[in-house]
Amino acid sequence: MERERSVKYVMPVKAEDDGFLSLEDYYGFYGDLSYEIDGEHSDRELTKVEMELIGTYLSGVETAVHLCCGAGRHVAAFGRLGILSIGVDLSPALVAVGNSILRRERLRPSTLLVVGNVLRLPIASGCVDCVTIVGNSFSLLAADVGERVFREMARILRTKGIVILDIPLADHIVASLRHSRRETCRRVPTRSLGEVEIVWARELDQQSRSIRSVETYLFWDNSGYRQVKKVQFVFHLYRAEEIRVMAAAAGFELVGMVEHKDVSGRYLGMLSRRLFLIMRAKG
Ligand SMILES: C[S@@+](CC[C@H](N)C(=O)[O-])C[C@H]1O[C@@H](n2cnc3c(N)ncnc32)[C@H](O)[C@@H]1O
Repeated sequence: MERERSVKYVMPVKAEDDGFLSLEDYYGFYGDLSYEIDGEHSDRELTKVEMELIGTYLSGVETAVHLCCGAGRHVAAFGRLGILSIGVDLSPALVAVGNSILRRERLRPSTLLVVGNVLRLPIASGCVDCVTIVGNSFSLLAADVGERVFREMARILRTKGIVILDIPLADHIVASLRHSRRETCRRVPTRSLGEVEIVWARELDQQSRSIRSVETYLFWDNSGYRQVKKVQFVFHLYRAEEIRVMAAAAGFELVGMVEHKDVSGRYLGMLSRRLFLIMRAKG
């Protein structure tokens, strides 16, 4: 009898020695879950407020690249303004969801999401008017990686092109952490994994000025086994001045700052108070 030929693909349980999935594994393998549980991916209202804040800096922008674009809400928002807009994200699932939204909205072919890494952008040098890295994406990068990302942004931007980057307002986050319970738990019905129990604990590290958020996802898999996945996010609490210095080293000058305060009440954590920095590539 002929042997059945098949390969069973096993999701990583322990991607790293400490038992945590890496950020790449979380977004890479669980992008569908991220889309369902991380509210910002599909939050049109939040995107609208952000676009109003940064709108004045977009005059003359005809081409834009959005780093760490997730499901591409800014790709779509820029596309609706008639800007040729490309998003880059490491998550195939988020890129797929985003592209189907762009298709549904008939924003293709002038908008597109591609899978890629922000350290090696699949974009030619000197051809972009505007680069965004928003939704707290930059705070996920350690300083040495952030510096490399600035150099990569400088490479693809044309002279006088702009970068739009946001950071969480550190003082507000630190204060809210002091007063909130450190561990939170909720149950979320999802299409991708059924009911998922999510437990997360946030811890402030004063010395490294970072917040360590350990998130645990518990769900039943298709074979009836209880699965437990743990992800660790480290949010670096950069000060505006640190970003300005990093940017200056890559040839940018700071031309504007605008504060975002969430009034919807949907965001109590990292997205509740942010600062948008606008930087211009020097000629
Ligand atoms: C907090 S989410 C923000 C998503 C989106 N900017 C928004 O506001 O909806 C961070 C995103 O960064 C992506 N990401 C993290 N590191 C990356 C890297 N090195 N290259 C490309 N994408 C990355 C993740 O896949 C994730 O979609």
